[in-house]
Amino acid sequence: MAVRSRIAGTGMSVPDRVVTNADLMQWMDTSEEWIEQRTGIRERRWIEPGQKPSDLARAATLAALADADLEVGDLDCILLATLSAEHDFPGTSFFLQELLGTPDIPCFDLRAQCSGFVYSLAVANGLVLARQFRRVLVVGCEVHSTGIDLTTEGRDVAVLFGDGAGAVVVEANEDEGDASALLEVRLHAEGKHAKKLWIEAPGSGFRPVRINHELIDQKRHFPRMEGRFVFKHAVTRMPEVLLETLHAASLKLEDVDLFLFHQANLRINEYVAQQLEIPPEKCFNNIERYGNCSAASIPMLLDEAVRGGRLARGQLVSMTTFGSGFSWSSAIARW
Ligand code: ACO
Repeated sequence: MAVRSRIAGTGMSVPDRVVTNADLMQWMDTSEEWIEQRTGIRERRWIEPGQKPSDLARAATLAALADADLEVGDLDCILLATLSAEHDFPGTSFFLQELLGTPDIPCFDLRAQCSGFVYSLAVANGLVLARQFRRVLVVGCEVHSTGIDLTTEGRDVAVLFGDGAGAVVVEANEDEGDASALLEVRLHAEGKHAKKLWIEAPGSGFRPVRINHELIDQKRHFPRMEGRFVFKHAVTRMPEVLLETLHAASLKLEDVDLFLFHQANLRINEYVAQQLEIPPEKCFNNIERYGNCSAASIPMLLDEAVRGGRLARGQLVSMTTFGSGFSWSSAIARW
């Protein structure tokens, strides 16, 4: 019998601390209007001292397992997407495994920035279809708040990002009577634009050491972005890959019940939806409450969509991303 993979459960976790646009004004020259008009963001969550990325990932994982009616011991592999690793090495997935208390199941981190979750879905899907594993935990997890420049110099990026984690369990579905499945995933990248949105340091190419006072004084350990350049590419690549994925699945735009776009900027998503003539009621965003949580954005959206009754069994959900790399991707799933 043909194996398909499906998402068996979703979960998310965000820190309790809410940071509003007005709060940001104590550190930088900005305004509530500037941020909301240009991005749609009103507030984001930041971790408290002592809280770590793996804590958020653990809480999201436990919620996803409960949703799937599974236990930690049912997992065969942990795959975690992040651009804000807890430490240089090993990957955050290893710290998560320790917190979950799973036996010696394999762990690995995947680095594809804001596209990291959909890239990871593709990998998990491949592992399940190859019958390597029956159940793969896929987590998107970011802590941006400890890595942004909170001065006016860094305001173009600092106002965008938030902390959070989202998790799903991807599992083999061999039940003929259950149509839920990951139908298609398409991935793309264009490394020639890597430096248009990046964090340069620490880096193993720097000598004699990877990070030094000079690099820090030059603020090269903070994210830098050519915002307009990124915006222009996002609104071109997202519709392209979304349509490519639907075409590969022999589906039409009208067939899709819910569209989830990466939460980088609400204006990007409105523009993409408008270009494709997707009605606003078929789109779901939460950027106004969480900002851009990079690899965590799509699984957080998915979890809120399911729990909020926006996505029901049998419906089609499309997930599309664009981010640093540049990387862009799209997946279509029957729920
Ligand atoms: N508050 C107030 N003013 C600001 C702020 C701020 N937070 N940030 C920038 N400004 C100022 C600028 O200094 C500039 O002032 P000037 O005209 O006097 O020079 C003015 O506002 C306009 O700045 P722009 O950068 O041109 O603003 P723009 O309209 O392009 O909006 C934004 C900036 C919102 C960042 C937009 O470019 C964007 O959303 N880009 C895409 C982001 C994205 O998709 N990222 C990808 C995902 S992230 C990832 O993968 C890691």
